[in-house]
Amino acid sequence: MEWMDDIYSKKIAGMRKSLIRELLKLTQKPEMISFAGGLPSPLTFPQEEIAELARDVILKEGSWALQYGATEGITLFKEQIIEFMKEDGEDVCLDNILVTTASQQGLDMVGRVFINSGDIVIMGRPTYVGAIAAFRGYEANFVDIELDEHGMKTDLLEKKLAELKEQNLKPKFIYTVPDFQNPAGVTLSLERRKHMLELAREYGIIIIEDTPYRELRYVGEHVPSIYSLDQNAGYVVALHTFSKILFPGLRLGWITAHTDVIDKFVLAKQAMDLCSPPLCQAIAYEYCRRGLLRGHIAETIEIYREKRAAMLEALTRYMPQHPEITWTEPEGGLFLWVILPENVDVDKMFHKAIEENVAFVPGTAFHADGGGKNTLRLNFSYPSPEQIDIGIRRLARTIENSLPG
Ligand SMILES: Cc1ncc(COP(=O)(O)O)c(C=O)c1O
Repeated sequence: MEWMDDIYSKKIAGMRKSLIRELLKLTQKPEMISFAGGLPSPLTFPQEEIAELARDVILKEGSWALQYGATEGITLFKEQIIEFMKEDGEDVCLDNILVTTASQQGLDMVGRVFINSGDIVIMGRPTYVGAIAAFRGYEANFVDIELDEHGMKTDLLEKKLAELKEQNLKPKFIYTVPDFQNPAGVTLSLERRKHMLELAREYGIIIIEDTPYRELRYVGEHVPSIYSLDQNAGYVVALHTFSKILFPGLRLGWITAHTDVIDKFVLAKQAMDLCSPPLCQAIAYEYCRRGLLRGHIAETIEIYREKRAAMLEALTRYMPQHPEITWTEPEGGLFLWVILPENVDVDKMFHKAIEENVAFVPGTAFHADGGGKNTLRLNFSYPSPEQIDIGIRRLARTIENSLPG
């Protein structure tokens, strides 16, 4: 309504509708095969175990599980997180951890805690659309650094940081999804992780390391987190979540950072939601305490490994033979990234794909400046291997028909 035009804050007026959410509405038809969302497979949800364990924990631990909790998170639960992280070579203590309402809240808190209007934030190109949305909400200016199959090109990052310094500009932070990145599926090499950290130290900038897919590796070698390389020196704030390793309906995650930074996050979170749901923390606590999480992750990996293989196989089989059509081969996570010839407009092609009953996310969603017009993201965790085969055949046909004659 017109009279409402000036009732909103500048921040909300500057926010745009999430393309992904709009697209997801189009993909509800039963005949649609969707590679668009970033949804975990419901096959991985441990329904029986959670149902039984939730009843148990409410009856046994109800006095705290149904009560308000500390903003930092419930200590018993944080102790389980510490144990879980130890197995990944991470050494954190209670004061380095803040429990969050999953990592999207972590991203919003990062915005609140670090960004002043006009501050420069360095991102990958492409990058996670939810991070663009969260930081845009705090009026960040984005500088993006190209990725290749080994993640963000840190030689370009080095050049950019020097260039900005010459202009007396100091970025607020570098945002990175180093493991099986959303959207590109690529993993930052160990060498580049070390280089990024060196640069962060040299220029006095922090790194926001967003790690939702870290535990979901299907092939290749484990790479240490940037947080562990920093050895708690304070240059890295790491975001973690249970969304992809347990189930996203839990809405539970955690941040690890230097205690000084955690203190600021606590202040921000107090104003947001007082605390993340103690009931969810109690369920996750009990799940971990019973030693179920690692086994569950191993089962999830088996399911996704098969789906990843199905998608790579289908792409090889059906995609048009063209020197400028390439895709990434992720070693883990939920996504891969397709690059088409420069002159293909994927936003336009999307509507044709919908007519063919196959959906994906156009790459422009993952570029703060609307670039990436010839790229797209495919999710392989949600559809079945059979659907993947049929869907990629439909997609390949749509691409074939969109190639300029
Ligand atoms: C890179 C990245 N960060 C953060 C999130 C937010 O996840 P959640 O809030 O469920 O933890 C996602 C979700 O897909 C993601 O891909």
